[in-house]
Amino acid sequence: MRDGSPDQLLLAWYDRHARTMPWRVSPQDKAKGIRPNPYHVWLSEVMLQQTTVAAVRAYFLKFIALWPSVTDLAQARDADVMAAWAGLGYYARARNLLACARVVADDLGGAFPETYADLLKLPGVGPYTAAAIASIAFEESAVVVDGNVERVMSRLFAVQEPLPKAKSALTGLAASLTPKQRPGDYAQAVMDLGATICTPRSPQCLICPLNGGCRASASGNPTDFPVKAPKAEKPTRRGRLWIVQSGESILIEQRPAKGLLGGMPGFPGDGWDGAGGDAPVSANWRSIGEVRHTFTHFHLILSLSFAQLPLGVNPDRGEFVPLSQFQPDSLPTVMKKAWTLAFKGPAGN
Ligand code: ADE
Repeated sequence: MRDGSPDQLLLAWYDRHARTMPWRVSPQDKAKGIRPNPYHVWLSEVMLQQTTVAAVRAYFLKFIALWPSVTDLAQARDADVMAAWAGLGYYARARNLLACARVVADDLGGAFPETYADLLKLPGVGPYTAAAIASIAFEESAVVVDGNVERVMSRLFAVQEPLPKAKSALTGLAASLTPKQRPGDYAQAVMDLGATICTPRSPQCLICPLNGGCRASASGNPTDFPVKAPKAEKPTRRGRLWIVQSGESILIEQRPAKGLLGGMPGFPGDGWDGAGGDAPVSANWRSIGEVRHTFTHFHLILSLSFAQLPLGVNPDRGEFVPLSQFQPDSLPTVMKKAWTLAFKGPAGN
């Protein structure tokens, strides 16, 4: 590889500017023989899908404090893991996380597979995660492609084809640059570059190590890349939540395992699909306002109704949980917004 080739320029830049992350082993520590912990790499990469490094940091530290090894995680209670995940979103990831931990602990003796091909067989591990673990934890020259890598490649080569169609071309370009030596550091270097310098809206081309060979920068309009196909507007859905208090308890319902917020606790709702639905109990409902939340594919506006139920009345669904035992932090974000509105008032205090 030539000294001025993009991979070598990126590695040299990473040696000086790698971000510090609790799951990461710096190039300097790697040179001393310290190896990344595959459990930490896997856990962080699952958390980092669709979530920023800043948001993931505290969750990662909480998880490794509660469950120091993949075997510990495999033995955790499902509800404890879902509660620890609450707020990170995309809850299918947490269910897959547990399924994967149990396969690694029960079928593989607690050791992660070491190749891209074998990692890909694990529950919840797709091409991105398998490539990230194979390269970062096991130094396989696997091709890691996330949104950052797509943006960097599309700019470096001024790819005219719009996303998402351009994905396979961008993967090919990423493959053409992925080195045999230090593939894990290289993958993290591209992601760091995309997160700190080659950012979506204000790329810092003047301090970019790839500036000399970047076609988008040379064009003068780097933010024209990646070219994107026009996006459909997100639809807005409306629905209801019923918040029931009885004495010092509140009514909580486990959501169905499949689908939106699958397996997470929350207040009984009407399905949020516009088809309506029945309240969990007949009561003297009082409207207390609405909460808004945006999911990947739609905006959601939920109208909240509140009722105080006499002791001894049993609703059709859900279970009463004493307020003294209830942990709002175990709720997914949209439900926590509803909790805050119902129990802390509109200003949240
Ligand atoms: N985003 C996802 N995984 C990452 C990693 N390992 N380094 C930097 N950014 C990332």
